[in-house]
Amino acid sequence: MAEKKKLLILLGSPRKRGNSAILAAEAAKAARAAGASVESVYLQGLSIRACTACDSCQRKLGRGCVIKDDMQALYPKLKGADALLLASPVYWANMSAQMKTFLDRCYALASPKGHALTGKKAGIILTYGAPDVFSAGGVNALRCFQDAFNFIDVKIAGTVYGTAWKAGEVRKNRPLLKEAADLGKALAS
Ligand SMILES: Cc1cc2nc3c(=O)[nH]c(=O)nc-3n(C[C@H](O)[C@H](O)[C@H](O)COP(=O)(O)O)c2cc1C
Repeated sequence: MAEKKKLLILLGSPRKRGNSAILAAEAAKAARAAGASVESVYLQGLSIRACTACDSCQRKLGRGCVIKDDMQALYPKLKGADALLLASPVYWANMSAQMKTFLDRCYALASPKGHALTGKKAGIILTYGAPDVFSAGGVNALRCFQDAFNFIDVKIAGTVYGTAWKAGEVRKNRPLLKEAADLGKALAS
């Protein structure tokens, strides 16, 4: 029997029941139904300090990050995952600070064999208050994910984004919930 795919979901909103988390939960449900094992990580609940650019992870590739915080427990999960799903609200025309801080710390996943995320699949979920992805500044967030993942050869399997302001409002957007479920299924394959 084929091994279960491992999907790791990174939740970048401080709202546990916010719009991006709701879409991520739809994706998780579909991924589980498709046979994947799914773990969700609420970044706001962790202590993740900003990268200090000490460069010790780059000087000695494979050594990892010298900052001893909750990112240390996340590194093995990131290495072990087949696919990642990054869900974030748009804050000031980009991803949330929680998500960006997490992403910066992934710099330390470089090793002599290349970056540990290379070859994995990724999905992106974004929610924002403005009526469309351009006026929201969501395009900047998408571009950041695209450029960062392109740099380390992570294949973006799909992006799901839409308008919702108050926490939970996204539940009214059935087509978007379906898009999130389809993304979860794609990440499980
Ligand atoms: C600090 C902050 C900054 C925000 N900046 C933007 C923005 O630049 N563009 C936008 O369309 N919405 C912005 N919003 C609205 C959120 O993106 C929107 O409420 C989103 O649905 C929140 O997702 P969540 O429920 O997953 O946290 C901002 C909200 C906050 C709290």
